[in-house]
Parts: sequence; structure tokens; C-alpha cells
Amino acid sequence: MPLNDRADPCLAVIFGASGDLTKRKLIPALYDLHCGGLLPDQFAVMGISRSAMSDDEFRTRLRGFAEQFAAEFSAETWDAFAKGLHYHAADSTKPDHYAGIKQRMAELAKTHGTGENALLYLSMAPHLYEPTIEQIGAHGMVVEGKSWCSIDRDKRAPWQRIVIEKPFGNDLDSATHLNRVLGRVFEEEAIYRIDHYMGKEIVQNLLVFRFANAIFEPIWNRNYIDHIQVTAAETVGVEGRGGYYDSPSGGAMRDMVASHLLQVMAAVVMEPPNTMIPDDIRREKIKVLSAIPQPLPMEVEQFAVRGQYGAGRKGDKDVPGYLEEEGVSPDSHTETYAAMQVSVQTWRWEGVPIYLRSGKSMAKKTTEIVVGFKPTPHCLFHEQACKILNPNQIVINVQPNEGIRLRFEGKVPGSGMNIKDVEMDFDYVKQFNTKPPDAYATLLLDAMRGDQTLYKHRDEIEQAWRIVQPVLDHWQAHNEKPVPKYAAGSWGPAESDALLKRNRDHWHNHS
Ligand code: BG6
Repeated sequence: MPLNDRADPCLAVIFGASGDLTKRKLIPALYDLHCGGLLPDQFAVMGISRSAMSDDEFRTRLRGFAEQFAAEFSAETWDAFAKGLHYHAADSTKPDHYAGIKQRMAELAKTHGTGENALLYLSMAPHLYEPTIEQIGAHGMVVEGKSWCSIDRDKRAPWQRIVIEKPFGNDLDSATHLNRVLGRVFEEEAIYRIDHYMGKEIVQNLLVFRFANAIFEPIWNRNYIDHIQVTAAETVGVEGRGGYYDSPSGGAMRDMVASHLLQVMAAVVMEPPNTMIPDDIRREKIKVLSAIPQPLPMEVEQFAVRGQYGAGRKGDKDVPGYLEEEGVSPDSHTETYAAMQVSVQTWRWEGVPIYLRSGKSMAKKTTEIVVGFKPTPHCLFHEQACKILNPNQIVINVQPNEGIRLRFEGKVPGSGMNIKDVEMDFDYVKQFNTKPPDAYATLLLDAMRGDQTLYKHRDEIEQAWRIVQPVLDHWQAHNEKPVPKYAAGSWGPAESDALLKRNRDHWHNHS
């Protein structure tokens, strides 16, 4: 596994340990880190949930998920890793459960030699965040003045950090409130707001692509770039998550655009940071987000589109529409597709439209960034080919087929001047002969090393909600209007194509 630098000794306390995220993501990722030799010997997990379970039952329950979701699996390494897995039944919102929680933490810290370091991971239903954070604070689980950490290992004091999952609020007010609640207990340096898209290898590679090469940066601006598209399309529908998705935290705008897509976009357009230290990088991302104006209420229809999938066909199967999914209200207005045009009002990006879109039950699973360049200022091939000349494109495939592709025009061999689109292709797997590490493994390791680069600062969260809030408000206020439909297995509603057509652009769809 191409990760380096081990985690600090610590006790990882997972609140919500009987949930899906723990089974499918956190434990397989920690196990991957163990297999890669990236966890120290002084490491243990303490899972907390309400249901009663012994350590052994907890381990047995997790084993099958590690077999299924970890990068590789062997009984021997699992047995060694599983010795560090423990379980404690408690309700983290109840004050009288904390004496037991703290006592068990102290015992495990002693047995495993983890010292005072604790990674507190909130992987529970979002309405439990606030009471749990308050109880953590009230019971002195964060040693005052010691929650800070330094990237320089030798200078680190014992630490207690909190990792908090999305959804981080469901609008600007609730997110700001949650930031305040967290801020009363933890210093900003100890708060790790996770966005698993930032842990994806190609998203991190963006910084290297842009700032470790001299040839891209001079053209990375409004003089050469015509528009940018960020797409996260999924083929799956809500698949058993209808209850969550149809709740006030759900819908494509909140679930994907306000979180993952704005983060990815910020990495594409941010200015070069002064250094690679986390604060410098995050400062540049905050600057990008704060340079994006909110749409005015009367502009929302022009700059944002929502959609909901109806019944359709995927491959040779008929699939149901959103309203027929389990847990979804039959008259729901929740959008399963959202697209939005934003602009970054800076010297570098003024006038460059940036299109963001995400949808469920779409034609293809793909997350990609398309940087569309302007056409040549003059066409020398007027007679031969001008009508079909396509502007250059850089396509950054975040998943699957991680890689970066440059599309340009080339001459077809033979007589005559026939011109065709050709590609230069950097394929991550072929080049490095390895699969990218799982995003959660990268992010967990970072949290245990005290590196906040890929985690969101409170200002990033609030800026992102600020940008989408008028759209959410407008859609809420106009719920009498039908949500545009798209057939499951298609590329989204027709209205979304119109969003780009206005600027003579079109979505980069795959056949
Ligand atoms: C999650 C969303 O954050 O990201 C899900 O809540 C979505 O609805 C998922 O399916 C997509 O993640 P990935 O890594 O599969 O693109």
C-alpha cells in the first residue's frame, strides 16, 4: 500500500460502532493500515453503541466485512489485528454512561500502551452529534490545552481529536450551530471534518499535477480555459437508504454538491499555496469558496437544476423510479439529481463557468473533472477540417479508471489533412501497477498523524452551505412545482443540458 509514515500510538473510539460505516469502511480501512504496517503496536479500537455485545462478538461480526471490503485479507493478519478490537455498550448521549466509557478507555489505554492519545470518531446518526459532543466535553475527555497537535512529531503533546462524518448540518444555520458546539469542546486543530472525496488518490494528485509541473499552471486561467465540469454520477439508486435520503439531510444538492463537489472544485481552481502545510492549503480552498457568489433568488432557476429519477432500464433490467423506492414518500420532492453553475470571481477565473452535477441512477458510474480549453484563435485548417476541430480537454478521472487524459487534435496518417481527436493517457493503475488506497485508509491515517490537509476547516463547511443555501430555499419554497424527471439509466433531466447550452457548452457524457 503506497502510504507512508505510521500513525501515532492511540486509542480509536468509534461512536456508532454497530452501524454500516464502521463495518464497511472504518474497520476494513484500519485493517488495511494494519496490513501495510502503518499502525503502531500501541493501537486499539473501542467501539461504542447501545446494543450489548462482547468483544468476541464484535470481532466476529466485523471479520466478514473486512474479508469483503479490505484490499487484501488473511486469517493470520486479521487475528493479530482483531486482538486490538474491543466493544463497550453505552449510550453516548447519557451522562451516566460516561463513568463506564472513561473507565474502559483507561483500561484499554493501559493494556495497549496508547497513552492519552484518543481519536474520537462520530459515525452515528447526525442528531446524536450534538449531545455526544456535549457529553464528551462535560466529562473532561479532552484534556484542556492539549487538543492541539503539531505536524512535527517531536513537538506533539498527547492529543484527543474528533473526526466527524457528514452530513455536517443540513443547511447553513445548522452547520454553523454544529461548528459552535464543536468549538466549545475542541480547538479547531483537533477537529477533523471528513469528506471522503478528499481522500481519493486522484483528488490529491491534483495538487501534484498542478503544482509539481511547470506546463499546466501558465494556462490554468481564464485566458485559456473556457469552462470546467465536475461530475459525480452513480448508477445505483437510493438502494435501501431511502429513509435517510428522503429526510431533510438528503437530496443530491446536500448529499453531494454542497459537500464533495465543491471540495473537488476548490482543489481544481485554488491558487498555489505558500507551502504544503495543511493551513496554507486549506486557506486557499477557503478563498476559492468565498469568491463564489450566491445566486440571487431570481437567478436560481437559471443557475441550478434538480431532477428525480423515474422508472427506467439499466442494462437488461427494469428498475423502479425514486418514488417507488422503500422509505421514500410517494409525493416526495427530494432531488436525486442536482446541477449548478457557479463562478469564482477572482482575477484568474472571472467569466469561466464551472458546472457541478451529481445524480443517482444515472447511465454510468463516473466521477470526473473536465477542463475545457478555448478554441485556437485562428484556424489554419479551414479548408480541410475547421468545422470539426474540437477544443482541447483535460479529463481527470477520479473514479473508476483513475487517471488523467489530455485530448487534442491529431492528423490521421495518410494523404490529405484529416484531423481527429486523440488522447494522451496517464492511467494510475497501469503506471504504478497498484490500485489506489481506499480513501478512508488515507484519511484515518492522516487523522492519527495529525495532518488536517484533507479535512475541512469550519469556514469551508460554512462557505459551501452559503453557496447552495439560496438554491435549497428556492426549491423548498417552490415545492408545488413538479421536479423534472429523468429515466433511470439516463444522463439526467433535459433541463440540465439547457443549463450548459446557454453558454454553448455541453456535458461530457459517456456513451
Ligand atoms: C456519500 C453519499 O457521501 O457518497 C452517498 O452520502 C454516495 O449518497 C457516496 O453514494 C458516493 O461515494 P463514492 O465514493 O462511491 O463516489
